[in-house]
Amino acid sequence: MTSRKRIAGDFLYEVYHENSKNFELEALDDVPDSWTEIEYKTYDSTESIPLSDVDGDIGNLISQRRSTDEFDSGPLELEQVSQLLGTSMGITTNQEDPNDQRRAYPSAGARYPVEAYIFANSVNGLDEAVYHINTLDNKLERVNKYSSDYSLDFISGEESNEAPLIVFLSAVFHRSTEKYASRGYRYTILEAGHIMQNLCLVATELDLACRPYGGFIEDTADEFLELPERETTIYVGLISSTK
Ligand SMILES: Cc1cc2nc3c(=O)[nH]c(=O)nc-3n(C[C@H](O)[C@H](O)[C@H](O)COP(=O)(O)O)c2cc1C
Repeated sequence: MTSRKRIAGDFLYEVYHENSKNFELEALDDVPDSWTEIEYKTYDSTESIPLSDVDGDIGNLISQRRSTDEFDSGPLELEQVSQLLGTSMGITTNQEDPNDQRRAYPSAGARYPVEAYIFANSVNGLDEAVYHINTLDNKLERVNKYSSDYSLDFISGEESNEAPLIVFLSAVFHRSTEKYASRGYRYTILEAGHIMQNLCLVATELDLACRPYGGFIEDTADEFLELPERETTIYVGLISSTK
């Protein structure tokens, strides 16, 4: 099975993951001219059927979701943050055994390899600090004691520093790869996409702006969050009030 091959002791997915990290933000602007020229696929078919929209809340929510360009630096309220995180990621079953609980997003084999954190940049009711989202117990847990000596320079774009709430999704790949080998790497990344979409849609419902973000330096984010060695940041969401 090629997907289980190792290079110098590391699984291929580990080598790939390391090689696809951002190491400097300037490099993000360094794209070739051809990058906008996408040819979308179409079939010259004899039969084509027009599609329609659901006429209801979910249809409206999906059509209103937009990645904002401008972040309102004004503070969010703890209750808004709580509703956003609880609804997007919370437990949605009522089993006694924590291992039987299921969440607001799907997870291959219910391994839940994605962890989540917030940095409360400006939230009334929260200190400016990093908090871990403890999904099983439905609560925020303060991770560190940031004061004024932090910097968000590891996230690209000046506007990112203005976002009052930053959500970080991290991967504990081995939770999934223990069961699925290298394929568990894909499942972890896919799971993060499900979570981010929930965040974007719930933010829209709460009249908040949300922008998914891949433009950040992972290694610095990991230090910022004080992550242990076998956990790494994979996705960032910037949240603010709508301007
Ligand atoms: C995986 C992923 C990474 C993204 N990374 C960034 C980013 O680093 N910076 C940014 O400004 N927008 C980022 N975006 C947002 C996209 O630019 C945005 O989704 C796209 O322009 C489509 O606009 P819409 O979300 O409003 O429909 C990212 C989106 C995705 C799905």
